[in-house]
Amino acid sequence: MSGHTRSDVGIPVQMGRRLVSLAVRAPSVHNTQPWAWRIHPDGIDLYADESRRLDAADPTGRNLVISCGAALHHLRVVARASGLMPEVSRLPDPEDPTLLAQVRFSPAPLPRTAAADLRAVQERSTDRRRFTSWPVPNERLRLLAQEVEEDGGAAVPVTDVTDRFRVDLMVRQAHRLQQRDERIVAEVQRWTDRNAYDGLPSDHLPARPVVPDKLPSRFDEGLLPDNGQEVESGDGLILLCGEDDSRASWLRGGESLSALWLSAAKGGLSVVPLSQVIEVSETREALQHQVLGDVAVPLLLIRVGWQPISRSQLEPTPRRPLDDVLLT
Ligand SMILES: Cc1cc2nc3c(=O)[nH]c(=O)nc-3n(C[C@H](O)[C@H](O)[C@H](O)COP(=O)(O)O)c2cc1C
Repeated sequence: MSGHTRSDVGIPVQMGRRLVSLAVRAPSVHNTQPWAWRIHPDGIDLYADESRRLDAADPTGRNLVISCGAALHHLRVVARASGLMPEVSRLPDPEDPTLLAQVRFSPAPLPRTAAADLRAVQERSTDRRRFTSWPVPNERLRLLAQEVEEDGGAAVPVTDVTDRFRVDLMVRQAHRLQQRDERIVAEVQRWTDRNAYDGLPSDHLPARPVVPDKLPSRFDEGLLPDNGQEVESGDGLILLCGEDDSRASWLRGGESLSALWLSAAKGGLSVVPLSQVIEVSETREALQHQVLGDVAVPLLLIRVGWQPISRSQLEPTPRRPLDDVLLT
């Protein structure tokens, strides 16, 4: 099945390599970078690398596919910013569910946002330090959700006081349950300070992960100084959702994550995904029922806020060498 148009152009290998090297700047669960790419004369194909799935925290591969979806959206953005219009066939081969997307390209004018888009891809990072107490206005959250909808996904700002309270309790409950699961705790440790290419460097994890009255961090205490003010209740919360809990929804959810994150980053907002509440089935079901009224399925909770202006930006986290993620 092709679904691609006749104006598709091939891309030179060097251009393909450049696009993939930027797409892999995408966020991924525990920085597992669970993707593999094939560059060929017609375009670029994206595969899920199931060998990098987190067996304990992500047995179904939801977070794996969401991570790949984020990389797919990154690819779309950097292609546009390089004068190429991407056309995507999602999950094109029913026989091969690891083939997540085939992307073909046609020439297109550069968007006005090209430079800012490329900068956001290169500079975005997960900054888990405490946000300032400036509240993120509901209107701002609605605009981010709108951005996701325009990209073909779904997002629900959690602004109602009762819903926020419920979400807060569910996040804590999920954290507590996972802390009791030895396999999950061991998995986090395996992915912390792993090597120079993947996993979570502890100099990116705050030195004080547990703040009273604050949502808990899933990671152990790191080395990143975090002496900011205590956060008030100003953090913005957004739920990325899907129609169902299928691979297609997860892929879209990942694209939504990237769309939201790049837009937030361009607007000076910091983003931290919180996936434990989705990974634990009882809190995921409670979220779906109590907060989404069973009209959608929750895929990822996102915390949004402002980092103090005086704070230095974090160095980008490491990535695997390009040749490791390219299929020949
Ligand atoms: C599906 C998904 C789930 C994630 N879950 C969490 C989480 O629960 N807590 C957290 O602090 N970061 C979470 N992250 C952020 C990743 O840890 C982060 O993207 C990765 O370490 C790479 O770092 P970077 O975003 O700075 O490039 C998640 C990212 C993705 C894509």
